[in-house]
Amino acid sequence: MKIATKLIHAGIEPDPSTGAIMTPIYQTSTYVQAAPGDHQGYEYARTQNPTRNALQNAIAAIENGKYGLCFSSGMAATDAVIKLLNPGDEVIAANDMYGGTYRMFTKIFEKYGLKFHFVNMRNPEDIRKYITGNTKLIWTETPTNPMMNITDIAAVASIAKPHNILLCVDNTFASPYLQTPLDLGADVVLHSATKYLGGHSDVVHGCLVLNDAELNNKLQFIQNSCGAVPGPQDCFLVLRGLKTLHVRMQRHCENGEKVARFLRNNINVENVYWCGFEDHPDYAVAKKQMRGFGGMMSFTLKDDSLAAANKLMSATKLFSLAESLGGVESLIGHPASMTHASIPREERIKNGLTDSLMRLSVGIEDADDLIEDLDQAIEKSSTPENSFRTFKKENAYVL
Ligand SMILES: Cc1ncc(COP(=O)(O)O)c(C=O)c1O
Repeated sequence: MKIATKLIHAGIEPDPSTGAIMTPIYQTSTYVQAAPGDHQGYEYARTQNPTRNALQNAIAAIENGKYGLCFSSGMAATDAVIKLLNPGDEVIAANDMYGGTYRMFTKIFEKYGLKFHFVNMRNPEDIRKYITGNTKLIWTETPTNPMMNITDIAAVASIAKPHNILLCVDNTFASPYLQTPLDLGADVVLHSATKYLGGHSDVVHGCLVLNDAELNNKLQFIQNSCGAVPGPQDCFLVLRGLKTLHVRMQRHCENGEKVARFLRNNINVENVYWCGFEDHPDYAVAKKQMRGFGGMMSFTLKDDSLAAANKLMSATKLFSLAESLGGVESLIGHPASMTHASIPREERIKNGLTDSLMRLSVGIEDADDLIEDLDQAIEKSSTPENSFRTFKKENAYVL
């Protein structure tokens, strides 16, 4: 099946008890047994739930994997992967990724004796320098949050494999519509399903997809033992979100391109970070491993001050100032004080994440309205002294 068909049908059967086409929300904590051990495959809802099973099967099929595991959040899914490790093990992680992942690695797991090396993965060969006999996991996110750098998944997988190092790819930004890391050699794919998979900003959820049966058993054991499982209503919402992922992602990509090109042509904008620009340093890799470039981007103003960025973020009307991404509605965010506040300032700045950097999650509204909204907000953010607007070309943003 092609992805559009899989998104609607994969892993889903009409409900066996009624024929309901939509998987019901099995809102139950336990299941009645006829005699001890004589049950219908379900004993206790932390361990199994039919709504969750349907979602786990669906997400596995969509990521071209064999096994799917769902969690109460993206962070809970990350937590489960790291709990595969033992004290003394080492992890090589991307130096540009979601701040909460960095926070979990450094603030929670370092104290249990795990060692993390944060490495720029744009040149996969650099990873080799950090491999020791204790390296058990490589963790990457591509495109990265918020700098939109790209990691060559196949190249990293070819470095990890001979050393038996697991490769986990956080695929939240791309979604399986744009990129399927298992096909490129990754061992585990992670999603904050809170984002594009759910797609409607109404649920917090996470999942893992993988192919190896033994690894699946270990992760299932952690899922059940530690108990960070999602409720059935949340699973239902993600299942419903999946059914329109392809249609939403197409529009996110189209709108993303229009907004990125508008920003780049705006005289008051300094840098636009979007992996679909032909001159983006990682464009060739993005084109090779992705089926589109998505609606996530970051930018800075010529007036690279926090004050100007703050003015802009308070002036947008359609782009709501909020944490999160990947919903149908457009969001603007300030990574330095929001999603990446837990990363030390010097570390952030080294990676280009300056105080004035703003991140956009371009939604699926009309692109012209979105561009108009950004245009008026950029104008409001520029003081008369620093405004470059007077030189702005007529209709510079029209593609
Ligand atoms: C790339 C990425 N991975 C993981 C997470 C964590 O997911 P959650 O918020 O669902 O716990 C986020 C959250 O923003 C994210 O952006």
